[in-house]
Amino acid sequence: MPCGAGLGRSFIARIALALVLLTVTLCLLWYRDLVSPPSRVLPHAPFNVLQNHDKQPQPGATTSPAAPAAQQQKATWGPRNATLGFDAILALSKGGGQSWRVQGLQAAAALSGLNVTVPPQPTWLPEMVEAFAALSPEGVPKPEPGSAAAWLAHIDLLKYVLQSELNSALIVEDDVDWDIHIKDQMSNIAEAVRQQTHAPHDESNPYSSQWDILWIGHCGDTPMPNETVSLFKDPTVLEHKRYVGFAGTKSYLQAHIPEGQRAVYRSQGAVCSYAYAVHRGGVRKVLDFVSTGLGQAYDTKLFYGCRSGLLKCVAVTPEVMRGEPAERGDNAPGRMASDDGSIGGQEGGGQPDKVAVSEAEKITGTTSNIRQSARCMSLWKKACIGGHK
Ligand SMILES: *[C@@H]1O[C@H](CO)[C@@H](O)[C@H](O)[C@H]1NC(C)=O
Ligand SMILES: *[C@@H]1O[C@H](CO)[C@@H](O)[C@H](O)[C@H]1NC(C)=O
Ligand SMILES: *[C@@H]1O[C@H](CO)[C@@H](O)[C@H](O)[C@H]1NC(C)=O
Repeated sequence: MPCGAGLGRSFIARIALALVLLTVTLCLLWYRDLVSPPSRVLPHAPFNVLQNHDKQPQPGATTSPAAPAAQQQKATWGPRNATLGFDAILALSKGGGQSWRVQGLQAAAALSGLNVTVPPQPTWLPEMVEAFAALSPEGVPKPEPGSAAAWLAHIDLLKYVLQSELNSALIVEDDVDWDIHIKDQMSNIAEAVRQQTHAPHDESNPYSSQWDILWIGHCGDTPMPNETVSLFKDPTVLEHKRYVGFAGTKSYLQAHIPEGQRAVYRSQGAVCSYAYAVHRGGVRKVLDFVSTGLGQAYDTKLFYGCRSGLLKCVAVTPEVMRGEPAERGDNAPGRMASDDGSIGGQEGGGQPDKVAVSEAEKITGTTSNIRQSARCMSLWKKACIGGHK
């Protein structure tokens, strides 16, 4: 029967088409799993502020009680948006969109589902840079021209935050890198910061507003022995023995922080301004403080602000953002140097762990302390685990 045979054929054809579509869909899903950041693997990294019966990080350290559910919810989901729960992520860059720094930054941002804005920077005339450096009177350390220009650029971004009436902003230097699980990490950090600062329940900022600087990208910092430390479990933390950083941070981690955990605490001053957040309630204060110059570099100025208590600073150690990124082509050890010597080439305020400088060339091709570099993943589709073997 031609008619029936026709129906049969079209039925078989439809089944075949359905099978082909199913196969294609499965392949696409599988491919998406391969190329997209696996943040779904860790829908919510196990968050655990240690209770008193757990190992204490150090004598005198205490932990805060768990946050109420609504607050926890806000802290958990706010940081998972394209600006990590801030109103904006602002990158400090002089090179514009063309430099390898910004291209890598935007590639990493795209892979991580982040929206990073690069506000245009004014051109700093040498006279302006010199005038800023000259704010330091005789006997007070002056910034080198590169440091002074970087400092002015940070000031300019803080003004941008103020003028744009942003409620909060994460400020990053343009060669910064992070782990592809940054949203999970920030979600945990937000909750720890809320607990650490005893944030009021009606606080709308996922990170609370009980600080002036939230320092998430530095090159080493440890809490004062008398400070309360909030710890949380984070499977993306590199083994402490592989930590690279300034001034005893590694030995602090090894002695006081259990493996696989990060610490959030009131900071008396980190060094390196790779990534830090400000919010509307504190940005004017930060701006007034850093605009006076007087010091060697922007990050050390912030350090003294935190140390003196003029600024209330909260930091996370190990840090989750880091400069000197994975794809850096030059082999220069130590602190990052800028393409034109003007942005980011700051002097630090501490002494690097001896190993950090001598071994730095060997770690080119990775980003220190970052397990799965977003720059590396976006450019080369591999992890480039950063840190010492
Ligand atoms: C991300 O979350 C913050 C805090 O809730 C909010 O202010 C900001 O507008 C959000 N950004 C985006 C891109 O949704
Ligand atoms: C990123 O944020 C800017 C500023 O808020 C906005 O204009 C732009 O549309 C955003 N881009 C994407 C891809 O969401
Ligand atoms: C810890 O000691 C420092 C320095 O003496 C002091 O500034 C800070 O307020 C103290 N912190 C606490 C929580 O007592």
